[in-house]
Amino acid sequence: MMKRILAIDDNPLVLELIGEALGEEFQVDTAETGAEGMEKCDSFAPDLVLLDVGLPDANGLDLVETIQTKSMVIVMTANSSVEGAVEAMRKGAFHYLTKPTPVDALRSLVRRASEVVELRRQNKELRRRVTQQFGEDAIIGKSRAMQAVFETVEMVAESSSTVLIQGDTGTGKELIALAIHQGGTTPEGPFIKVNCAALPSELLESELFGHEKGAFTGADRRMIGKFEAADGGSILLDEISEIASSLQAKLLRVLQEREFYRIGGTNVVRPRCRVIATTNRPLKQEVERGAFREDLYYRLNVVPIVVPALRNRPSDIPLLIDHFLRRFNGDMGKNVELTEDVIAYLTELPWRGNVRELENFIERAVVMSRNNLVSLANSLIPEEEPSIEELPFKVGMTVREAERTLILRTLDETDWNRTKAAEILGISIRTLRNKLHDYREEDASLVPPPGERR
Ligand SMILES: Nc1ncnc2c1ncn2[C@@H]1O[C@H](COP(=O)(O)OP(=O)(O)OP(=O)(O)O)[C@@H](O)[C@H]1O
Ligand SMILES: [Mg+2]
Repeated sequence: MMKRILAIDDNPLVLELIGEALGEEFQVDTAETGAEGMEKCDSFAPDLVLLDVGLPDANGLDLVETIQTKSMVIVMTANSSVEGAVEAMRKGAFHYLTKPTPVDALRSLVRRASEVVELRRQNKELRRRVTQQFGEDAIIGKSRAMQAVFETVEMVAESSSTVLIQGDTGTGKELIALAIHQGGTTPEGPFIKVNCAALPSELLESELFGHEKGAFTGADRRMIGKFEAADGGSILLDEISEIASSLQAKLLRVLQEREFYRIGGTNVVRPRCRVIATTNRPLKQEVERGAFREDLYYRLNVVPIVVPALRNRPSDIPLLIDHFLRRFNGDMGKNVELTEDVIAYLTELPWRGNVRELENFIERAVVMSRNNLVSLANSLIPEEEPSIEELPFKVGMTVREAERTLILRTLDETDWNRTKAAEILGISIRTLRNKLHDYREEDASLVPPPGERR
């Protein structure tokens, strides 16, 4: 709903009248000159501006265009002229009033404006939802785990907080980063992505912060960094765990002070952008093994989001299959479907490459299929065996039993290569070793095969 109204008029009496007419329903602020008015448009951020034409330092009509990009404008004038009204509307004013205006007429016009503001807001929200559900950037997920992620996304989008998104490769971290940007307060602003793993540290530094001409050999012109490019929008620091320690220190300072210098520069730069970082290595563990600064970790981890692996939310798999089938069928003008048994089979697979792997698989299925039906018989099934399905998990067993089974089976698969097993299980080698120690204490017969690897 409309909350704040700014009245700009050089006549204090008019301002007083407006305050009386609207002050109970709305928050009203006033300005007596064009300059003061423009300044309050920024600081007060009104939903509606009541703008006098004959201001001492400006013609109100010249201000309409600028003001209407952010607030709704109603132009007021003492002498009614058709031309003035037409010009005001052409420049984007919502309406035109002649003074003196009866209080009732003013009130009812402002209320109507308020309804329109609300309608526009709802429309924008609706558009956002529709594109989120059906567009290219749609994020699919009905599982509880993903619903929880979406809730956090919605909440954090409205703030300008720094967000750390963690999750295995291909789980959709980048997509979620984009959703946060698009659901945020500056969706029209730039969304700038920097891959921190792709560049050596000196290059990454100048990529992030820019440099002045002559800052180093080869710097033959000034270059704006990504932080500056992201001004008014969001910057995505992809694979943040890979950032070298010298740069970690610099990044920490930038996040703390919200200002920096271009390399070789003397003018301070203060970019206003939201920072989103992603990593597929658990950053806390990187901190524990001394590879990532703890203070930087806390700076980034203001709002943590952990995207679950696809195998931990199998109920999303059929939905994703459907989504990708639609997309690739559309792209390729085909009409490929998967039979129920194929979908059931795919739902059981471990999908170590997560959603990306599933997406690639469906693309392949659509490209390769000759007729429009993919069944188990005309197999386009990935080579990976369904391993989860084979394990004797059932309701009735304890988490501890299930964990033990999974750990021992994984060790079995990897020839007791603990490093590899720990990696697959997503736990540290130390945790794995401790668990094994416990298991052995309970069951002395549990000895690894000869030639056990570490
Ligand atoms: N929930 C989802 N709904 C629809 N598409 C998804 C979803 N999650 C991921 N995708 C798609 O899967 C692919 C991989 O997603 P994304 O690039 O966001 O993963 P990531 O977590 O950033 O991976 P990496 O760690 O390897 O960079 C993209 O094409 C993305 O559009
Ligand atoms: Mg990514």
